[in-house]
Amino acid sequence: MLQVLAGKIERAEANLAVIGLGYVGLPVACVFARAGFRVTGLEIKPARVDMINAGRCPIDGEEPGLPELLAEVVAARRLRASGDDQDLAEADVILIGVETPVDDRHRPQYTALSAACRSLGPVLKEGALVVVESTVAPGTMDRLVRPLLEETSGRRVNQGFYLGACPERVMPGKLLANLRAMSRVCGGSTPETAGVMIALYRHIVAADLDPADLVTAELVKTAENAYRDVQIAFANEVALICEAAGGDVWLVRELVNKSPSRQMHLPGAGVGGHCIPKDPWLLAYGARDEAEVRLIPAARAVNAGMPLHMAQLVAAALGEAGRPLAGARVGILGYSYLEDSDDIRNSPSEVLVARLRQLGAQVVVHDPWVREYRGELLDRLRGCDAAVLMVAHRTYRDLDLAALKSVLRTPILVDGRHVFSHQGAGRAGLSYYAVGVAPARDDKGL
Ligand SMILES: NC(=O)c1ccc[n+]([C@@H]2O[C@H](COP(=O)([O-])OP(=O)(O)OC[C@H]3O[C@@H](n4cnc5c(N)ncnc54)[C@H](O)[C@@H]3O)[C@@H](O)[C@H]2O)c1
Repeated sequence: MLQVLAGKIERAEANLAVIGLGYVGLPVACVFARAGFRVTGLEIKPARVDMINAGRCPIDGEEPGLPELLAEVVAARRLRASGDDQDLAEADVILIGVETPVDDRHRPQYTALSAACRSLGPVLKEGALVVVESTVAPGTMDRLVRPLLEETSGRRVNQGFYLGACPERVMPGKLLANLRAMSRVCGGSTPETAGVMIALYRHIVAADLDPADLVTAELVKTAENAYRDVQIAFANEVALICEAAGGDVWLVRELVNKSPSRQMHLPGAGVGGHCIPKDPWLLAYGARDEAEVRLIPAARAVNAGMPLHMAQLVAAALGEAGRPLAGARVGILGYSYLEDSDDIRNSPSEVLVARLRQLGAQVVVHDPWVREYRGELLDRLRGCDAAVLMVAHRTYRDLDLAALKSVLRTPILVDGRHVFSHQGAGRAGLSYYAVGVAPARDDKGL
């Protein structure tokens, strides 16, 4: 049975379905459609289904090539979105790309993943291959996905259907480029299944495709994102120490990285997005109380504290200017979690805004990519007592600081992303504060 499927995949004749047409599922559906497959996308948001079927891209941020590709594959009838589970019945290969958040206690919330399996099971075709692209805690394929599919389909894994985990590695802003250029781990329920997955992904990926088992694929994905979170936390902790010790983390980082095998990450105003703030918790969940997990939660705490640290920097800056935070007007530059993206999930700015309001500040927000906060930047900042850079959007990198100074009531710039410099801000007449840079260094004009 697997050989028949392998042949169909080889010839791009297999019917594909993608469950969940978000940042991951939509580009994946589009590139498989471009590779010649007939693709059905199952999505629970009706407005998204309508938009995609009209050939319009529902992602507002910059995604080079995606709107054009979507329009092309929809017009060519290679991709069709649907809200009807029955449309999964013809699928030979089903890719699942639904969200996998964690709850308040950092435990995985598999409502969407379970619902996707329950939609699929009753109509699952004999001999089909089901691949989870979502990021899941180690053990989830074996403990949740397999039993749910077996129960709802009445079929057994490796007999009636095949199972894979091929976690996605894309980043918003580069979805199509990442899909093609990034290597992937193809975890299969058997080595033969992993081999068929490699044949499938070879149609769209121009990098290594590494065969693995299911739990290895789950571990690799969560570990690679936890690695990033821990590295960023280290950089953030050094930044906080630099502020206290009278140093400049950017200079320190540059010199640290001259030492062999050191690659200190970038510190900043916080870590956001759907993945990095929760994937470390998914990895930690894999320990299931059998192994002690200490580093990952500590790193999370450091990174989650950075937007609150930004609030402290704003308060200190205002204090030096003789203006209390309560009643001050603070302008936030950037609300998405990533430059030139519309993705606001787990946005550090959200935490900062809530904190500043809690402390009595009036807060105005600008973001060129987030509909709610679009508008003319300088108009938005007029009369503010501080401008706080949270996201390095291109619009902000090109900002005329003299023009910024002219609209502010109090000339304070707090930089959470190392976009500006003391010198540049000083020339424009702005008092400059930055993550990881001791205020004392301002006085020296360094
Ligand atoms: N966003 C990223 O950059 C990224 C990168 C790598 C991996 N991932 C992982 O990929 C997964 C998806 O992330 P995303 O960013 O694409 O999420 P998303 O929220 O953008 O997309 C998920 C989509 O699935 C739909 N959906 C939810 N339940 C459904 C169901 N039962 N049936 C049909 N549709 C359903 C939602 O309406 C949504 O449109 C997550 O596990 C995430 O961790 C995301």
